[in-house]
Amino acid sequence: MTSERSEEDTVAFDVVDGIAWVKFNRPEKRNCMSPKLNRQMMRVLHELEFRDDVGVLVLTGEGTAWTAGMDLKEYFRETEVLGLGGTRQAQSESYGWWRRLRWYQKPTIAMVNGWCFGGGYGPLHSCDLAFAAEDAQFGLSEINWGILPGGGATKVATNLLNMRNAMYHAMMGENIDGTTAAEWGLINEAIPADKLKERVTAVAKVLLEKNPIALKATKDAVRRVMEMTYDNAEDYLIRAQEAANFFDNTGRKEGIKQFIDDKTYKPGLGAYDKSKQEK
Ligand code: COA
Repeated sequence: MTSERSEEDTVAFDVVDGIAWVKFNRPEKRNCMSPKLNRQMMRVLHELEFRDDVGVLVLTGEGTAWTAGMDLKEYFRETEVLGLGGTRQAQSESYGWWRRLRWYQKPTIAMVNGWCFGGGYGPLHSCDLAFAAEDAQFGLSEINWGILPGGGATKVATNLLNMRNAMYHAMMGENIDGTTAAEWGLINEAIPADKLKERVTAVAKVLLEKNPIALKATKDAVRRVMEMTYDNAEDYLIRAQEAANFFDNTGRKEGIKQFIDDKTYKPGLGAYDKSKQEK
């Protein structure tokens, strides 16, 4: 398979037991992000976002890469010749789906199976949680070919890493493995490659048990309050909870009832039984 891969074929997905497994699907190009892939990923995210049979979305890669970042040929070289308009168009197509993923309705998990470079830090950060193979490789390789880590990559590094590690990572162009990425806070956990899917499935199953409206409110709250003062955050959280109550009064009341009246679970130790909730 060479560059004739159709636009539709640059992303693959499968929905199994409430989990949408979405794959960067250009293994022969180490899943680097071309304009075609970026457009197709937006279509796939759009198709899956409000499907009732999708409770969690996992983003992973076919083959040896998660994604080798932006496609140096199709995203940079071939759009630059189209002038500023071509460059801006390609940027909006990639940044667009990363933003859509950042505020996705369903919880999202990056399952990093291999290479993750440069522009790949955009979708990595967009996913709510991230798990990687211990031997996955992460790198801000931009400095190695003569640009700064753009497309949000520098912002991702400074959001997730401390200043010294972010600076070292961006300036040195050295890769770190999954284990170091977990130590640095770039991902949640590193797992032996042959156990990665099992661990991600287990995490997804826990999320599937939670109240979906509360999950969406929670994930948005974590991202929003990071940039707020304490007082602004307190105010935002009051309003966000009131807005969530508007969409879901029954789930919250059922959760209180099962703890206080029925004594069938403890919120400190697990989630209430959603199946008993009136629709
Ligand atoms: N842009 C364009 N093409 C890319 C690419 C990218 N980011 N990453 C890989 N490819 C292409 C290669 O050109 C090669 O194409 P070819 O078969 O037509 O020659 C194919 O994918 C396989 O890549 P190859 O380098 O042979 O694979 P590898 O397994 O030996 O090495 C990497 C994998 C990821 C280390 C290496 O491909 C690489 O360094 N990629 C660039 C990573 C990068 O700097 N990305 C940042 C972009 S912001």
